[in-house]
Amino acid sequence: MQSLDQHGALFLTIKLQMKQGKPALGLLMTQSPDLNIALVGCGTVGTGVVKILQSSMDSLRQRTGRSIQLRRVIVKDTSKVRDVDLGRIPVSNDIRTVIDDPEIHVAIHVVGGINPAREDVTRLLESGKDVITANKALLYEHGAELFAIAGKRNRTICFEAAVAGGIPIISAVNTALTANRIVSIEAILNGTSNFILTRMLDRRETYDAVLAEAQARGYAEADPAMDVDGTDAAQKLSILTQLAFGTRVPLEDIVRQGIQQIELLDLLVAAELGYRVKLLATSRIAKDRLEVSVQPTLVRTNRAIGMTSGADNIVSIEGDAVGVLRLSGAGAGQMPTASAVMADVVDYSTGRAAITFQSILRVHNQKPVQLQPQEELSRRYYLRFTVADRPHVLADIADILGRNEISISSVRQDETDDVADDAGVARLVIMTHRTTEGRLRIADRKIAALSSIRGDRIRMPIAD
Ligand code: HSE
Repeated sequence: MQSLDQHGALFLTIKLQMKQGKPALGLLMTQSPDLNIALVGCGTVGTGVVKILQSSMDSLRQRTGRSIQLRRVIVKDTSKVRDVDLGRIPVSNDIRTVIDDPEIHVAIHVVGGINPAREDVTRLLESGKDVITANKALLYEHGAELFAIAGKRNRTICFEAAVAGGIPIISAVNTALTANRIVSIEAILNGTSNFILTRMLDRRETYDAVLAEAQARGYAEADPAMDVDGTDAAQKLSILTQLAFGTRVPLEDIVRQGIQQIELLDLLVAAELGYRVKLLATSRIAKDRLEVSVQPTLVRTNRAIGMTSGADNIVSIEGDAVGVLRLSGAGAGQMPTASAVMADVVDYSTGRAAITFQSILRVHNQKPVQLQPQEELSRRYYLRFTVADRPHVLADIADILGRNEISISSVRQDETDDVADDAGVARLVIMTHRTTEGRLRIADRKIAALSSIRGDRIRMPIAD
């Protein structure tokens, strides 16, 4: 029997009827055509994809049974000198050359931002192309709309590279862990901020110097504000939460803080107390409600998350059957992210991706879990205040905390020579017992109004 798949690939099914008395054996042989791909975007990640395509051609052919051919490249600036030799592959700045090319099966979309990415991916899907994308902002903002288009047109979207760089967490959630009810996800999902927090502590470097290095190494987004203010991690967590819990959580429902105000002092005090500060992304079911947050958090130094350093990411995921699994590794950077893109190419080329995408579409339509109101999140907290060094300041702060039923577990203040407005200032660190985000917010507003408060106030939950 002969049949054609959606792109005209020829399948030969040979049925060998075994001799009478022996079991019948069905043997499917695939006559493999080339898999024709287009690369949309040839920046950091796109260049990495080309490098893997060029260096691993034979092993990719072996694994997929198909010859993977890069047929077209779309870039913004065709005159720019690239880090890879594209040979005779046509390079254009017009995506229509891909859309109008009936030979192209799938577009690898490695361009950041929403515009023109949203329109480009829509047009690619509508023209019958499948899409492999690394654009988490696009998936976070318009995933539902793009998935609906893909579903309607019987197309596939793959997005392993959109979350946690080289770590195969999308594949784990969508395939290996599907027998589980996911209970919690605790993760470091932004390489840039983890790199900054690690370097500041290890090398006593300033925030600005380390951020510049993260940019030079290709970890940071085009707008690094999204890395350090928690937006990038929150978008990734929202995508993971949707896949793991079937619930879409918009950014405004995520308790979200960035790392911009964290000072070396906070990292040093935390270290002395046995903690590392991590931009922790958490999504967990507690009493049938979903708690979702992205916040700089004190994590015990000896926990796997506490030990995750540099641009590495980690995802600790708990399923009701499997227990806790931890996946860690490079969460940003050219080759790790390209590795994830290429995993999608292989999955796509073997036909696995289309099957997985159908099951993702079914999960997307399941009944959402109710969200825990932000005010009701219950944790211990690290609080740091810069205050005027004068009598009764500590008593005023302790009084406000006490009146809001926030119990103090430790207080620390070191002598400093620091001054502000020609007067001495002190750095006050208070660790609390378990309390709620809501109580803390009320207390913080009252503390902020004290005349003794100088500069930033830092509030970080503690994940014991
Ligand atoms: N800017 C991102 C990070 C890259 O630092 O994690 C991967 O999404």
